Amino acid sequence: MPKKILILNGSPKTDGNTAAMVEWFSQGAREKGADVEIVRTAYLKYKTLGCISCRKCQTIDKYECGIDDDAKPVLAKMAEVDVIVMATPLYFFGASAQLKLIFDRMFSLYKWDNDAGTMQTPLIGKTLVLLASAFEDVGLDALEKPFALTAEYSGMKFESILAANAGESGEIAKKRPDLREKVMSLGIKIAL
Ligand SMILES: Cc1cc2nc3c(=O)[nH]c(=O)nc-3n(C[C@H](O)[C@H](O)[C@H](O)COP(=O)(O)O)c2cc1C
Repeated sequence: MPKKILILNGSPKTDGNTAAMVEWFSQGAREKGADVEIVRTAYLKYKTLGCISCRKCQTIDKYECGIDDDAKPVLAKMAEVDVIVMATPLYFFGASAQLKLIFDRMFSLYKWDNDAGTMQTPLIGKTLVLLASAFEDVGLDALEKPFALTAEYSGMKFESILAANAGESGEIAKKRPDLREKVMSLGIKIAL
């Protein structure tokens, strides 16, 4: 069975550095037969600004967000695929708001029973990949932390490529000529 990979590109830039990393990763993964879907989170139509803690998702059996907008089917797909890739530029030492808007709505992919102290999620056993770039070489470790911790919390495997000194949007191939092969190789590895 080909691996199913869902990529969330959280950059607002169409031809930017995040788009390049996503393209390289996808090339590698598709080369090995993976089924890759790319979602540009900055261009989804949202009814709310991120998770509004309505907790509707905790009152139903399904792993489904209670807000019926463009993010809802994307979240449902996260529960189905083998690999979720989060791709983002470093914005003030964290992920972009455009990625965070949907990231927090992953709340709907968990069921907590606080009395019993239990948590269930369909994310267990999947892989979370983080692709991130920055102009400088300060702060990508801070950006990585919430993704690594979320993976650990969810029983997911975690991989990341953090591209420091990647320049302004569109400069990554020139500034970091080593990266194309590295990111493609991760795509290949993840698809196998
Ligand atoms: C709002 C904003 C905040 C940024 N903050 C940082 C930062 O804290 N550190 C850094 O090194 N680069 C920062 N950058 C630069 C981008 O992270 C970097 O150029 C990235 O590779 C751009 O990716 P993109 O082309 O996909 O948008 C920032 C850029 C913007 C627009």
